[in-house]
Formats: sequence, C-alpha cells, structure tokens
Amino acid sequence: MAQPAVIERHHHITLCTGGAQEDYDFHTKVLAMKSVKKTALYDGDVPIYHLYYGNDLGEESTLVTSFPMRQSGRKARRGTGQTRTLALSIPTSAVGFWAERLRAHGFETKPAERFGEKLVAFQHPCGIDYELVGIADDARKPYGAGGVPPELAIRGTHGITVSVRDLESSEEFMHHAWSGRKIATDRNYVRYHVGNGGTGAIVDFVIEPDLPPASWMYGEGVVHHCAFQVADLDVQAAVKFRLEGLGFTDTSDRKDRGYFQSIYVRTPAGALFEATVSKPEGMQIDEPYEKLGTAFQVPPVFASRRDEILEYLEPLAY
Ligand SMILES: [Fe+2]
Repeated sequence: MAQPAVIERHHHITLCTGGAQEDYDFHTKVLAMKSVKKTALYDGDVPIYHLYYGNDLGEESTLVTSFPMRQSGRKARRGTGQTRTLALSIPTSAVGFWAERLRAHGFETKPAERFGEKLVAFQHPCGIDYELVGIADDARKPYGAGGVPPELAIRGTHGITVSVRDLESSEEFMHHAWSGRKIATDRNYVRYHVGNGGTGAIVDFVIEPDLPPASWMYGEGVVHHCAFQVADLDVQAAVKFRLEGLGFTDTSDRKDRGYFQSIYVRTPAGALFEATVSKPEGMQIDEPYEKLGTAFQVPPVFASRRDEILEYLEPLAY
C-alpha cells in the first residue's frame, strides 16, 4: 500500500545557539531576516528565550528559531545522529553577493557545489554549520526590509543535513514513516524530498561513520530539531498513528506551542523531527502584523511568573 504524502515541507528549524544578542544580531543584521517573535521555551522550569526569524509574516518554511543557551552554561557536542547543517534558499544571482556580505561581516566562507546547486558555507557565531544555496525558482516571498533588497534576500529554508553513522535505519524511517522519496546521491550525501519536493522540502543525510554522536540535551552549539508542516490536526493524528504502528512508540503527544501544535519523534539515527500544524492566526495570535516581534511574549504556561522571567532572562537590545 502506498504511503500518503502527508509530510509537506519544513515548518521551522530550531537551533540551540550561544548568546541571545549574538544570535539576534546574526539573524537580523547579517542574514537580514525579520524577528517575528520573541518568546520563551514552553518546556522546563528555567526560562530560555525562544527567538523566531522569518519572512514578513513568519510563514511556514521561512522560520528559523533559536534557544540561546549561553545563560544556561550548557554546551552541546556536535556530531552524528543530529541535524548538522541548516541550508537557506537565496536566488542563484545572489550567491556572490552573500559571500561578499558575509566576509564583510567577518565570517569565513567556503564556496561549494552539491546536488548541482551552488552554495556558500559558513558558520553561525556559535559554530552551527549554515549554507546559503542558490535556487532559481523559489516563489516564497522574502523579507525585504532587513537591509538586503528583496531580489537578493533569503527566501526561506532549503534543506537540512542530518549526520548519520550509517543510512539504513534513516532510509527506513524516511520511506515508511515520513513519506520521503530518495531522489539523488552525491558523494557521501543522500537527498530525500517530502511533499512536493524542492527547496523547503529537502532532507539530506551525510554519512559520517567515524564521527561520535551529538548531544540531545539543550546546550549551546547544535541544531535541536526540524519541524515539518502537515495539513491539519487529523493528518497529524494519522502521522502519529502511523509512527506508532511502525514501532516508533516514543512519538510525543500533541503539544500546544502557542502559534502551532506539534508532535515530536526521535528518528532512529537520533535527529529529532516534529510534525506541526499552524494555528489559523499564525504569528499574529498574540500581536498584530504591525507589531510582530516587537515585544516579548510570555508563554501562557509561565503567565503567573511573568516578572520573574523578565528579570531572569539576559538583556536583549532590539
Ligand atoms: Fe519546533
């Protein structure tokens, strides 16, 4: 029986970064993304910022979010069994512009080509690998008011690269559980598409048998998870049912994340994936479009601790 293609594309990619200001300045001033939400992690008893960056409306598959972890004092280990690289889509004509812009901001850049796509590789200040990939036909609407004109600006996510020691269990997961299609290989990289495929719907695996495993705990310097968009809560329930039927019984219950509702599954290689459904109001559920990202939003779960949280979190100038 064919698997229905229920995993559509990326929704957001979430990182554990270093200092909050460093992360904020990197995404808004260097990458010229819009700060669409400033809130805190909904889990745990010690508050951690949750910062969202994306296009003008903070639409699905344009979102990169971060938990700045330096305040916690916890460092993470990068390695296998985790998403290692975050790739964002830029116009093909903008590859040279971005390499120059990154160098002007003090970043080391490396040109590369993979799966026939030209890219610029560099690192977030906390060490996470980033790529800007030249894509000719990306219809997503960029944010054009962040200091980079819209014809050169970032369009959204392109792909993630998950580092694995071997591919077999990840292939099983992508095929049977995540409605993925293997479409290409390039050296030690294997590319999967979900949904309609193409930019914003790519999962690459890089086979690195000699690398030790990465951290799972929230700590500075790793990608934490990749969230994928599904159509509605019924589809999400079907995804969970299917995962459990395949033996992935540690799929989480549905969690209300304020702007979307999510389930989480630890993939066999170790990388954490999420299947999420946006609420109709999206990022505007707690502040109007004109004020998106301009004020800190206390998570509902912490509402009774508002003053304590604001006192605790490290200062953030914006
Ligand atoms: Fe998430």
